[in-house]
Amino acid sequence: MRTSTTRSAALLAVAALGLSACATGGDSGGSGDAGAGDASSSETNSAEAYEPKEGGAGGEVGVFTWWADGSEKKGLDALTAEFEKQYPNDSFVNLAVAGGAGSNAKAKLASDLENDNPPGSFQGHAGAELTDYIAADQIEPVNDVMAALGGSDVFPQDLLDRLTVEGDIYSIPSNIHRANVVWANPKVLKEAGINEPPADMEAWLADMEKVKESGVKTPLHIGGTWTQVQLFETVLLSDLGPESYNGLFDGSTKWDSEGVKTAVSHYKELLGYANTASDGDDWPPSIDAVYKGDAAYNVMGDWAVAQFTENDATEGEDYTYFPVPGTDGVFDFLADSFTLPKGADNPDGSKDWLMTVGSAEGQLAFNKAKGSIPARTDVAADEFPEYQQSAMEDFQSDTIVSSIAHGAAVPLAWLTDVSSAVAKFYSAQDEEAMVSDLTSAAEKHGQ
Ligand code: BGC
Repeated sequence: MRTSTTRSAALLAVAALGLSACATGGDSGGSGDAGAGDASSSETNSAEAYEPKEGGAGGEVGVFTWWADGSEKKGLDALTAEFEKQYPNDSFVNLAVAGGAGSNAKAKLASDLENDNPPGSFQGHAGAELTDYIAADQIEPVNDVMAALGGSDVFPQDLLDRLTVEGDIYSIPSNIHRANVVWANPKVLKEAGINEPPADMEAWLADMEKVKESGVKTPLHIGGTWTQVQLFETVLLSDLGPESYNGLFDGSTKWDSEGVKTAVSHYKELLGYANTASDGDDWPPSIDAVYKGDAAYNVMGDWAVAQFTENDATEGEDYTYFPVPGTDGVFDFLADSFTLPKGADNPDGSKDWLMTVGSAEGQLAFNKAKGSIPARTDVAADEFPEYQQSAMEDFQSDTIVSSIAHGAAVPLAWLTDVSSAVAKFYSAQDEEAMVSDLTSAAEKHGQ
């Protein structure tokens, strides 16, 4: 997962993402109940390119995210600084609502949209999540902005497909994150006699036991429900492999199949090595627990690397990383993107914001601070810290699958049901009930 790379690596990512999508039967996002048309079309309706006014349209642009604190805010600040440089006439208004993965923000956003009080732009995940807003007629196509940015000349076509419904592009991607990463404390592992990353779930569980025997009470750190959904999705990926994992979203893998049952059992065993978590617990404390040595492991998206950096933790000494055991060679993908809500007060100001989000300068500034890699294919890899360089390389060589917890694989309503099953399992620890709840959720959402 770690070597340096060059600009051509990012360029090659285009082919890799496209290939993996073919290998897994095309669009693995989307779902029956999104009802927003064919999200896998690669034809884009033509539009005249947006032409921003010199210095920007003027007026306020309220931007809604959940990047409210810490390292995530630093990423947003870097993007905002670029926006203010590119469009000095526009005034950025920060509407961020704290809570990782949008755990609080999404409810506030839903009520603002329902009450016809949309922000100037909001953060949404590429893939199935976007189809919810499209189906509810809450966002506008941004084909003109995408045309001005360069479209498929500068963004991977498969990513554009995840932003497109019936030929219209509905958001501008800011970044790509990876969800299946274990962040680990090398000193704790050494103390426990562990010298290399485990190959699969059984080997990882054996290592957890070694860590526990070495005196660390909770080898694995977890947070609230969404972090548990993310952990569970990576266990599914490990036990099913990428093809069967993708099949969970098109009905070709059953949620009550043996592979899912094995994953639920492994997941239960993992929870046996974890701290006690409350639903509201956010992700940064888990990262802190790892570099301070209170836990050996945490599974988190690669926004984690920004939190380590924020705390001056040194890679190799205070933390190390590897793919979730059994998922080497697979990139569990999610991408943040920004929308133009219907009825936004200052649509040209919103488009200026989208232009910055999609610009090479905006993507460089933002992704360097955020731990993610640029969605654009023309940003030089050697401008980035080591972790992102390795992620760029993996993104071009790995099989790409879509994250459940972060809006890429299933729409919000389905994710809500998966989250309820995971939250219930946390207290009840009933494997049969979990499998049955997940199966009912899939049936309810068209599988
Ligand atoms: C977003 C990331 C964010 C993470 C934790 C994900 O859903 O895509 O940008 O860092 O949540 O808040």
